[in-house]
Amino acid sequence: MRKIAVIGMGYVGLVTAAGFADLGNRVVGVDIVEEKIAQLREGKLPIYEPGLEEMVCRNMQAGRLSFTTSYAEALDGAEFAFIAVGTPPGANGEADLRYVEAAARSIAENMRNPLIVVNKSTVPVGTGDWVTQVIKKYQKEPIPFAVVSCPEFLREGSALYDFMHPHRIVLGSSDREAAEKVAQLHLPLRAPIMITDIRTAEMIKYASNAFLATKISFINEIANICEALGADVKEVAVGMGYDPRIGPHFLEAGLGFGGSCFPKDVQALAYAARVMGRHPQLLEAVLEINQDRRRMAVERVREMLGGSLRNHVVGLLGLAFKPNTDDMREAPSIDIARYLLEEGAHVRAYDPIAMENARRILPEIEYFPDPYSLAEGADALIVVTEWNEFKHLDLKRIKALMRRPVIYDGRNIYDPQTMFDLGFIYRGVGRGYPPPADPRPPGLTMEEPAALG
Ligand code: UDX
Repeated sequence: MRKIAVIGMGYVGLVTAAGFADLGNRVVGVDIVEEKIAQLREGKLPIYEPGLEEMVCRNMQAGRLSFTTSYAEALDGAEFAFIAVGTPPGANGEADLRYVEAAARSIAENMRNPLIVVNKSTVPVGTGDWVTQVIKKYQKEPIPFAVVSCPEFLREGSALYDFMHPHRIVLGSSDREAAEKVAQLHLPLRAPIMITDIRTAEMIKYASNAFLATKISFINEIANICEALGADVKEVAVGMGYDPRIGPHFLEAGLGFGGSCFPKDVQALAYAARVMGRHPQLLEAVLEINQDRRRMAVERVREMLGGSLRNHVVGLLGLAFKPNTDDMREAPSIDIARYLLEEGAHVRAYDPIAMENARRILPEIEYFPDPYSLAEGADALIVVTEWNEFKHLDLKRIKALMRRPVIYDGRNIYDPQTMFDLGFIYRGVGRGYPPPADPRPPGLTMEEPAALG
């Protein structure tokens, strides 16, 4: 049985640890936070991820997975050490590497046998080479080691599935043999494996996330234009998606991207470009469009309420940055709630699982136990997160409970016609808008249609 140490018991680290244990390896999870390790030993997880608790407990019982705060214990006899610590954004959008450095240093100080250090955290291009320097600097005696970059592409909410069914494994290293050993670890996953140099592997992660974020900002820009012209962006995306060069995925217009990855990764890539004297104009536009989504949602609701939000009761359906997670990092709900409060609205919210986390970030809003109590007496509701339970609400009951039947559907989960038929004042994102009063295409100056013949 191969022994693997995984450093950092956050999202990526826990999923990686549980996943490799489930594939039959002996895995030790390391974290410097004692409380976290104590809880994990009791089978309690610091994060919510479908299926993860069960997988962690099952592998602990089978003796394949354990947790410790001691690097020495974790690295003793380990062939691989995966670094999966956080890389939060710094003041200028750059990735803060202090946890990566601390992990590399602790690995160097505690390793007693040859080791392959595999970096999973999303780190700026060049970090792998720097980690090599850090380890060399802090090693007490020269024990051979190699550094391999193996970026993760996990989505929250389906991270275990993504771990077990990756679209590709990207490995980067100057040590081909080490990269091939890491490739072997991944063989049971039967995914295409690409081995390249370390900087290219690091770049693949950033470029992939930046491209996906670009798709989202692109469709959101198209949504804005659809609103002005009376077209339906949802149908536009379907029509575009049939072209295999475009593809149907990641073309959902809405309140924009949030979460722990896209905002910070696009910022970090743009920062790196600027520092190196390049002008990342597309990335900057992607971020700007994304921020505008949140302001725009508030603008639309203000319009729908007749021009002012003051003293109006606005309910947020959903708070998490996306469904099936309690993660509030960079969630659009945070900015939307704050903008609404700034304009004098009374803000309330309901989310199936993110309310506990939200309370810490947004203590100034009111929380309700279900969508119906949220709707009672509200002047407007905003669909912020597309939880499945919102798709199956008793909308007649919701309408009867509301003071004014205004719904701004920030995730396009309802059908505009159905909503109009039910008597709602309804707007989606890029849909549910009437065509402009003047039926002529914008810019057309002809007074009369040209006479036929
Ligand atoms: C993402 C990447 O998908 C993953 O590969 C990477 O490792 C980490 O970042 P995640 O942040 O978990 O994963 O969420 P994802 O499901 O990709 O959604 C990201 C954000 O984009 C969400 O806020 C979501 O609401 C938004 N989004 C996604 C859209 O607005 N429109 C879309 O069409 C798709």
